[in-house]
Amino acid sequence: MQRVKYAAVGCSGMGRRHLHGYAKLRDSGHGNIELAAVCDLDASLANALADEAGSLTGSRPPAFTSVAEMVASVPGLEAADITTDAGSHLSVSRACLGAGLHVLCEKPLGLTVAECREIIEAGRTAGRIVSVAENFRRDPMNRLVKALIDDGAIGAPRLMREESIGGTDLIVTAPWRHFKHTGTVIVDSGVHNADIIRFYLGEIVSVYGESRLHEPLRRPQPQVDAAAAQRDSWWGARSQLPAITKATGEDAIYAQIRFASGAICQWVLDRAGHGLPRDERVIYGAKGSIAAPGDRNGRPVVLHLDGGLSITDERILDFAPSYRLNPVAATLFGDARPWRYDFGFNDVDQKLLALQLHELADCIRQGTAPEVTGAEAMADVALAYAPVESGRLGRAVTMDEILNGSASPYQDEIAALRRSA
Ligand SMILES: NC(=O)c1ccc[n+]([C@@H]2O[C@H](COP(=O)([O-])OP(=O)(O)OC[C@H]3O[C@@H](n4cnc5c(N)ncnc54)[C@H](O)[C@@H]3O)[C@@H](O)[C@H]2O)c1
Repeated sequence: MQRVKYAAVGCSGMGRRHLHGYAKLRDSGHGNIELAAVCDLDASLANALADEAGSLTGSRPPAFTSVAEMVASVPGLEAADITTDAGSHLSVSRACLGAGLHVLCEKPLGLTVAECREIIEAGRTAGRIVSVAENFRRDPMNRLVKALIDDGAIGAPRLMREESIGGTDLIVTAPWRHFKHTGTVIVDSGVHNADIIRFYLGEIVSVYGESRLHEPLRRPQPQVDAAAAQRDSWWGARSQLPAITKATGEDAIYAQIRFASGAICQWVLDRAGHGLPRDERVIYGAKGSIAAPGDRNGRPVVLHLDGGLSITDERILDFAPSYRLNPVAATLFGDARPWRYDFGFNDVDQKLLALQLHELADCIRQGTAPEVTGAEAMADVALAYAPVESGRLGRAVTMDEILNGSASPYQDEIAALRRSA
């Protein structure tokens, strides 16, 4: 089948990571997509990505600074892989969909639920796919946890605890993640947790929560450890960041979530935590509990059963008969039913990004829907804002209210700021 020609729109850190995901897919023998152009408002970044693509694949795509010019110049383009900053997803998606391209957009799909809805509508009008690059759920360990829950390993789920605390007063990668009108860290980072919470436990009825802006003055990371340095190398020199960023967007949410099943999730996302950093993801059910290892680290999932029995090795697979990766994931991770894996962060990251690109091309050719549709990603954005809206209103909010925009004081402030920006 003919490969789908796509353009990489956004050539900064995440654009580079996607490029390496593309190269990983080509090398896997499952390549079904071909990079035909790159685009960034910043010509030097666009050219640098084109050069990097040239050395990785042997073929240098043309570089552009506008989507319109790119579409007019490159014949046969079918799709765009959008890795621009969160605040530009609406305008860039509209431009791409309006030009007849299918879209794979980085998370969060839109900066607010209303913006997500506009993108979904633009896709519907254009008759094109809107897929969202939500990579955490594609981690084999998260697939395994989901299968354990669905296959009844812990009985009916009762409680999930999702906790991520740390960050102090340091800038999270780039200043835009600290401004209310360009994508606060609670939505930029929070949609990942929101997606995992929804992926594991399904439909949500209501949320009670609070949010805070704890650290209004953010500073660049000084010295980083080797692992962080490796991750951050994608974004270039930290010395380019301003000495102080005056944050305007919330940096912490504390929530209690009620699912349609009756289960509860307690969710803490605190990107201003000091002292003891914490990352915990546990699901308790009527028969046992699952300690999930987190994302992109390949550590084993642990199943705890009554009587002190803990399953920490491959016997866990017996409790998840439905667990099976798709053939592309099985190739990339070397097994259709891995119970752990041992790859470095960048390698895992690229495998997951490869899967997203493969799925997009497959959906285009087969006429099928992606796993994370616009609607699915909009529900993630809604869940990330629900604790903030609840805190503003001083009451629990229903997901219906968040999704239909009738409980949106915080997002209304964002919309007003964006109109006046
Ligand atoms: N899934 C993950 O693990 C993960 C990690 C980091 C970032 N992300 C997501 O990736 C996206 C990009 O993040 P980043 O850190 O690379 O952002 P960034 O700010 O470093 O880069 C964004 C790039 O988009 C370009 N851009 C903006 N508007 C444009 C337009 N109209 N046309 C062409 N180019 C345009 C900018 O010039 C810039 O180079 C965000 O949505 C972020 O949430 C995801």
